[in-house]
Amino acid sequence: MKRYVILISGRGSNMGSLLDASLPGVCAAVISNRVDAAGLATAAGRGIATAVIDHRGFASREEFDAALAAEIEQHEPDLVLLAGFMRILTDGFVCRFEGRLLNIHPSLLPAFPGIRTHAQALAAGVRLHGCSVHFVTPALDGGPIIAQAAVPVQAGDDEASLGGRVLVEEHRLYPRVARWFLDGRLRLVAGRVQLAGEIAVTGSLHVPLAD
Ligand code: GRF
Repeated sequence: MKRYVILISGRGSNMGSLLDASLPGVCAAVISNRVDAAGLATAAGRGIATAVIDHRGFASREEFDAALAAEIEQHEPDLVLLAGFMRILTDGFVCRFEGRLLNIHPSLLPAFPGIRTHAQALAAGVRLHGCSVHFVTPALDGGPIIAQAAVPVQAGDDEASLGGRVLVEEHRLYPRVARWFLDGRLRLVAGRVQLAGEIAVTGSLHVPLAD
């Protein structure tokens, strides 16, 4: 049985969608960098081991990442899923887990990396927004994209309404990609995504036909 570890920093709704998905593997642990992450209680309530590595207790990013990596390695995961984990990781950490480290980002990358992605999308006036799941590489939100889900931006949208529409798609997309990986159908090969037999675009996009 494959093993996976989920990293969170807060609410943990993506973590919940992964745990709900009956993935073909065991969630060995949920690890947070914040002791007050609400998702920790959700995970513990499901009988999953939890751990907190508080970044504030470390003098440097390198030291924090070393402690985080040591905690993760204890669980011997095949796959590490960043799910709302709000820390920039060092190159050393990313390279250590290369090819088995995934992230979900709430935009159609490469548009809008970083934070406040829904505000960024509204400010740019895009008509399509969405989410992306990618392999993590040292470039922030810049790793090879595995799958994306698109949603329309509607008149009158604000950050909350648009973010809510994207979140629905995040909860569908991430478990689907995690399943591909755990089924052995998804790999990172020489820096490129190799996916057997799936179309990696989903979403609630309905474009009316113009005449
Ligand atoms: C999600 O939108 C995720 O894509 C982003 O941060 C948010 C975390 O939400 N990186 P949750 O903790 O999964 O509910």
